[in-house]
Amino acid sequence: MIVGICGSPRKQATEHVLREALNMLEKMGFETNFFTVRGKKISFCRHCDHCLKHKECITKDNMYELYPLLKEAKGIVIATPVYNGGISAQTKAVMDRCRALVAADRDFFSYKVGMAIAVAGDRIGGQELAIQQIMTFYILNGIIPVSGGSFGANLGATFWSKDTLEGVKKDEEGFRSLRKTVKKFAEFMKKFEVEKQN
Ligand SMILES: Cc1cc2nc3c(=O)[nH]c(=O)nc-3n(C[C@H](O)[C@H](O)[C@H](O)COP(=O)(O)O)c2cc1C
Repeated sequence: MIVGICGSPRKQATEHVLREALNMLEKMGFETNFFTVRGKKISFCRHCDHCLKHKECITKDNMYELYPLLKEAKGIVIATPVYNGGISAQTKAVMDRCRALVAADRDFFSYKVGMAIAVAGDRIGGQELAIQQIMTFYILNGIIPVSGGSFGANLGATFWSKDTLEGVKKDEEGFRSLRKTVKKFAEFMKKFEVEKQN
């Protein structure tokens, strides 16, 4: 199973392109689940260290809907809108709240495969900086980070929305970067499944 996490509080460009990515993966034969921060209560990590002692997060909010999806998932797609040249605060809250999962099991995320999508209002608005933050989260949690490769999707899927849903739908280059990234992500997912069975 692949879980797609949308870090936008709106039903707009980021959600649209993440759903497109999950549709592509479904067509390739993967089971997917969509999770959004929109309308959810996901508090910041308050660094109380409860998770280190009790192996669970003390804050019982909507993160508890995502935790089981993350456990089951072999692949993770994080999609964020670009806010001030980086990921949204909502996306960061999700990442920080994953500390409880790692506190309970150091290998919780190990060998899962991850890709990233960033959607900005400007053509060059910080998409790669936002993706870099997602990749850093992947690397430090043992998730294998995958991009679409050079010549179009260097760090992952990057979109220029012009601040509208219609804008992102017209971003042909963005969709090219998405197709390339999804293709590579699917290749990695399949390769790891075969290796794990051997
Ligand atoms: C607080 C805030 C900060 C933003 N900062 C940037 C930015 O640094 N660079 C940029 O290109 N767009 C920026 N934007 C615009 C959004 O990235 C853009 O509208 C994007 O499409 C929002 O995603 P959504 O359509 O899923 O809501 C910002 C928007 C907000 C609300």
